[in-house]
Amino acid sequence: MYRGFESHSLRQIRTVRYHDTMASFPMVVAKHMPPSLQALAYRAQQATMMYSAVFAQRGLRRVLRRKTAPGRQAQREVARLYQALLARDLKNVEIGAYPDELLFQMPVVDYLKQIPRLALDIPRTVRRMRAGRYRDLPGDVKLDRYPPYYRRNFHWQTDGYLSRSSAQLYDVGVEFLFLGTADIMRRQVIPPVTDHLRSNPNADRVLDVACGTGRTLLQLAHTHPKLRFTGLDLSPYYVQHARQLLAEVEDLSLIADNAEAMPFADETFDVLTCVHLFHELPRPARHNVYREMLRTLKPGGLLVIEDSLQNGDSSTMSIFLQQFSKDFHEPFHNDYAKDDIGDALEEHGFEKVETELHFVAKVVRANKPS
Ligand SMILES: C[S@@+](CC[C@H](N)C(=O)[O-])C[C@H]1O[C@@H](n2cnc3c(N)ncnc32)[C@H](O)[C@@H]1O
Repeated sequence: MYRGFESHSLRQIRTVRYHDTMASFPMVVAKHMPPSLQALAYRAQQATMMYSAVFAQRGLRRVLRRKTAPGRQAQREVARLYQALLARDLKNVEIGAYPDELLFQMPVVDYLKQIPRLALDIPRTVRRMRAGRYRDLPGDVKLDRYPPYYRRNFHWQTDGYLSRSSAQLYDVGVEFLFLGTADIMRRQVIPPVTDHLRSNPNADRVLDVACGTGRTLLQLAHTHPKLRFTGLDLSPYYVQHARQLLAEVEDLSLIADNAEAMPFADETFDVLTCVHLFHELPRPARHNVYREMLRTLKPGGLLVIEDSLQNGDSSTMSIFLQQFSKDFHEPFHNDYAKDDIGDALEEHGFEKVETELHFVAKVVRANKPS
C-alpha cells in the first residue's frame, strides 16, 4: 500500500518537475494572465522581434549592397499574412489545439543576447556570398558521409549544417529571417496532431523528420507530454543541440540519419511531422522521403508537413520567395516550388490530403490508408 502510494507520488513529482523545467518564466507568468492581457503581451513580444528583425535585415541589405527589395504589393501581402498568422496562433490556443504557454516559449531575451555573435559572423558570411563559395565547410568533417546535395552552406550560413556553432546560431538566425514567426509556423503542425489524437486516443508514437535543433518537438512535447517522441536529422551537430533542448522530455529518442532511408521498421509511427525539409532537397530525394514516410507510418497514421509556399499557392508570394531563394542560397527551392506537396503525397498513396497556408509556409496533412 505504502509502496504504491510512494511510487504514485514520485511519478507526480516527476511530472511537475518536467512541466516546470520546460516552461520559461514568461510562460509561467502568461498562464496566470486573463486572455485579453495575454493577447496584448503576445503582440508586444512579436512586435519586438519583428521590428528588431526588420532593422537587422535593412542593415544586412545595405552591407550586401542589395538594391532589389520586394515590391509594394508583395510587402502589403507579407504584412497581411503576418497579421493573419498571429490571429491564427491566438485562435488555436482558444480552441485548445495547443496550450497558451506556447505563445511565450520563444526565448526572446536569449535571442537578443545572441545578436553580437550573429553580427560577428556577418563579415565571413558576406565574403562567402560575394565569392559564391557555397562549399565552404569545416575541414574536419567527413563529407563523404553526407549526400552531395547536403554538402553546402544553405542560407550561406557558416559551416552549413555541419558544426556545433552553426546549430547554436540557427534558431535565432531563422527567427530573424522570418520576423519572429519561425516557431509560430512550426507549431501550425500541432492542430492536426491534436485533432488526430482526439479520434485515435491510443496513438502515441511520433516521429519528427529533419528535427533540426528540436524546436518543433519541444512544442509538441509541451502540448502532448505523454507521447513517445523520436527525432531524426542528418546533422549530428543539430541532433546534439536538440538533445540539450529536449533534455526534460520523458520519452525521446534522437537519431542522426538520412530521411531518405530511415532506420525504422515498417509501420512504426502513429504520427509523422516534418518542418521545412522538402525545399532543401533535390527532386529524387524528395520522392525517397515521401516513400519512407508512407513505409514507416502505421495504417491510418497521420503525416503533417510544414514547408515553404509553392508557386500554385500564391503568385504574389512566389516572386518574393524566388528572390529569397536566390539571395539565401536555396538551390533546390525553385524546383520544389514548381510542385505541390499535396499532389506528391496523393501520387505516393496518401489519402485525405488537406492544405492550409500560413504566412510564407503551407501545412499539408494526409493519412496513410487504413
Ligand atoms: C531548414 S532546416 C529545418 C530544421 C527544423 N525542422 C526546423 O524547423 O528548424 C532543414 C533540416 O533538414 C535537415 N536535413 C536535410 N537533408 C536531410 C536528410 N536527407 N535527412 C535528414 N535530415 C535532413 C538538415 O540537417 C536541417 O536540420
